[in-house]
Amino acid sequence: MPEPTTAPATVPAIDLVGVAKRFVSRRGTVTAVERVDLTIGEGEFFSLLGPSGCGKTTTLRMIGGFEEPTEGQILLYGSDVVGVPPNHRDVNMVFQSYALFPHMTVFENVAFGLKRKGVDKAEATRRVNEALELVQLDEKSSRRPRELSGGQQQRVALARALVNRPRALLLDEPLAALDLKLRQAMQLELKRIQREVGITFIFVTHDQNEALTMSDRLVVMNAGRIEQLGSPREVYERPRTRFVAGFIGTSNLLTGIVRSLDGSAAVLEVGADESVVVPEGAAAGARPGQSLDLTVRPEKMRITAGPPDAGWCALRGRVTEVVYLGTSTQYAVDALGGSELLVFSQNASDAEDIASRGQDVWLSWRPEHSLALEPEPAPVAEPELEAAS
Ligand SMILES: Nc1ncnc2c1ncn2[C@@H]1O[C@H](COP(=O)(O)OP(=O)(O)OP(=O)(O)O)[C@@H](O)[C@H]1O
Ligand SMILES: [Mg+2]
Repeated sequence: MPEPTTAPATVPAIDLVGVAKRFVSRRGTVTAVERVDLTIGEGEFFSLLGPSGCGKTTTLRMIGGFEEPTEGQILLYGSDVVGVPPNHRDVNMVFQSYALFPHMTVFENVAFGLKRKGVDKAEATRRVNEALELVQLDEKSSRRPRELSGGQQQRVALARALVNRPRALLLDEPLAALDLKLRQAMQLELKRIQREVGITFIFVTHDQNEALTMSDRLVVMNAGRIEQLGSPREVYERPRTRFVAGFIGTSNLLTGIVRSLDGSAAVLEVGADESVVVPEGAAAGARPGQSLDLTVRPEKMRITAGPPDAGWCALRGRVTEVVYLGTSTQYAVDALGGSELLVFSQNASDAEDIASRGQDVWLSWRPEHSLALEPEPAPVAEPELEAAS
């Protein structure tokens, strides 16, 4: 598997080096971004993913020039842009709330920026039409915003940014206001547009599905820091921390004591008399007697009435809930060791459920699906209000 942390071999479009942002007010200091190091390649669809308040918008605003970092460097196409105003950076931002001018037509809304910049009228008309065609609104160019659906208004906001022909587009939760169906349609639209124009997109979202479906690569942010960077598959299949495992998809967390080490594979004691194998390499550095956290995705677990084949990791437990979901069935299981676990089982046939509520079962999975998690960092003080100096 390729190293997850290397950017593609293209010109780096955006480089953040040790970037931090603190907001200082009379009430104290808020650390919005603690430390971010990041290289984004030209033409990438790159997402910043994380919960509310983790510093996504602040990071994007620093790239766009709407905030200056307290520490660190921001390079756009190799040149340091700290101190350069937004309109002199080769990037354009689509904001969380896109304010269209209500009294102007779609065409006028998109042309507005060009007119202010003094772009020649014929040239402006050509570029506006091109942008409207790209977002498939060329037939609605004389409508006013209130005569458009939410998704169409969002596309006007997009055309308004694209018409400036930036080298990178910064998008702050551009689909948040849309209902689920429209959002999914717009996700595909955005991907198509990005492919057609071939520019770098930096996309902010707190929706993990959106980030997984759209991105070439993404970072998961937590409390002003990057927890993990990688492709959607890498981040989903190999979460490195408890936070990432819990934030992306559903995870089963198990804590055990390292009982023995066989080469670099570890045998973990997790329950009454049960053991789980953590494969070679994954538990590097673990010592006998030490506690280790691991995670197993629910779709990697099997549920059976009897013990599994040799070589599989196994736990015993009792089924507490069975939920039929159409394409799959979800089983909640209380393991003997005390953990509450979930198993997703594909409904490949229309046969009966493989286990029923109250039944004693075995859960099993292949050792390579036991992922050791990095130990949690020491808890940091709430980023809320550190004492003002
Ligand atoms: N101008 C400001 N002054 C003081 N604190 C701020 C300012 N802007 C942001 N913050 C704080 O910085 C932290 C990060 O904010 P930011 O807007 O970057 O989060 P976010 O990840 O975009 O969240 P959301 O998903 O809710 O949009 C928050 O704690 C926020 O309250
Ligand atoms: Mg935000």
